Amino acid sequence: MALLLHEKPERTTLAILTYTDAKRIFRGNQENFIDLIRTGEERGVQVYVVTTADFKLTGDKVTGYTYHFQSKRWKKEQLPLPDVIYNRIPYRKFEQLPDVQQTIQACLRHGHISFFNPSFFNKWTLFEWLNKSKETQAFIPTTQKLTSGDELEQLLQKHPNLYLKPVRGKAGKGIMKVSRVPAKVSKTRKYQLSVQEKTRSHISRYATIPQLWAQIREMVGTKDYIMQQGITLSNYKQRPFDLRVLVQKNSKGLWSIAGVGARLAGKLSITTHVPRGGSIDEPGKLLEAGFGAVGSKRIIAKAKKAALVIAKQIEKASGSTLGEMSMDLGVDTAGQIWFFEANSKPMKFDEPQIRKKSLINLIRYSIHLSRQGTKKETQIASTAMRRAVLQKSVQKAR
Ligand SMILES: Nc1ncnc2c1ncn2[C@@H]1O[C@H](COP(=O)(O)OP(=O)(O)O)[C@@H](O)[C@H]1O
Ligand SMILES: [Mg+2]
Repeated sequence: MALLLHEKPERTTLAILTYTDAKRIFRGNQENFIDLIRTGEERGVQVYVVTTADFKLTGDKVTGYTYHFQSKRWKKEQLPLPDVIYNRIPYRKFEQLPDVQQTIQACLRHGHISFFNPSFFNKWTLFEWLNKSKETQAFIPTTQKLTSGDELEQLLQKHPNLYLKPVRGKAGKGIMKVSRVPAKVSKTRKYQLSVQEKTRSHISRYATIPQLWAQIREMVGTKDYIMQQGITLSNYKQRPFDLRVLVQKNSKGLWSIAGVGARLAGKLSITTHVPRGGSIDEPGKLLEAGFGAVGSKRIIAKAKKAALVIAKQIEKASGSTLGEMSMDLGVDTAGQIWFFEANSKPMKFDEPQIRKKSLINLIRYSIHLSRQGTKKETQIASTAMRRAVLQKSVQKAR
């Protein structure tokens, strides 16, 4: 009897959405996917990988890949439709493809499946979103689209250093820094351009804005860029650093801080990226050196609070459901927090604690979303029922 009464256990299914091409069965960081599958297994959530090519939401099954830990192999299978889809399409160039867009739109329109982080962010749009709210305005450096030498000159008169960044860039690619050269250093070569190369930056100087602008234009090509007030970052042993915050929704669907890491710039670099000579370090230790133990704690608390306010505003202004983002925050020499960018496809955090927390959060948030989904379905069903009853009674009344 007990068996008969026993209902099918409610198991959340989570699909990791990625892209496939001739290179591999699917793209993206497989180690990340496997870790998420394992974390799901430990918590009763079935996690599998689907590619935009295979993903058809019309039937009651989908073709996906499960991972078999013993044989260390992926297995292509027919799987139940997911309750939740986690978008991990790894590059913008894939996301922009028409058939990939079609899949994303189908996921967004689907009535019963929750889909989060639908797209990459753009540095200019992020600025516009955060500029809309009084609460987040204070954290954003002055930013404008990079359009002409005249406008560059005007902004350079207000700020001695400017960062030029591609709006769709990542990992320091295409980043430049423009600085006014103090008269005591050079009276003739008034402008300095630092271009981020592999692990160092290449420096050149110019006498006039048109000369500087010609060089910048050559570097920029047809890409969209922003120019941004340069922040004098707090430093440790003369190496500037910034904070990398991982913000994720928790089991209640509320934004929370999964962890805060720090990245120290390489000696010859204008950014703090590890592949560009930067290194990972403890935020507490780095901040303590400049602000003392109490100051360090206060700044970390302030950064966490800022990250939460910023994440909420980004989600609100984007009009989509977001489940996680990583954020690059700067701390200036006075201890003030600055927002540089947020990323909707956070890279793996190497700090073990943050890493672990991030996987658990994703699973818990998926469970939350699947429950919300069931609630939504019951709501839809009961509204439909009410409507039907109402219609019947109207018909009767006639
Ligand atoms: N306005 C700025 N002032 C000072 N440093 C900056 C500024 N913008 C970026 N940086 C430095 O460059 C790094 C990369 O910038 P970011 O906006 O995160 O671009 P990317 O997408 O290439 O990571 C930051 O982490 C920070 O160290
Ligand atoms: Mg960055």
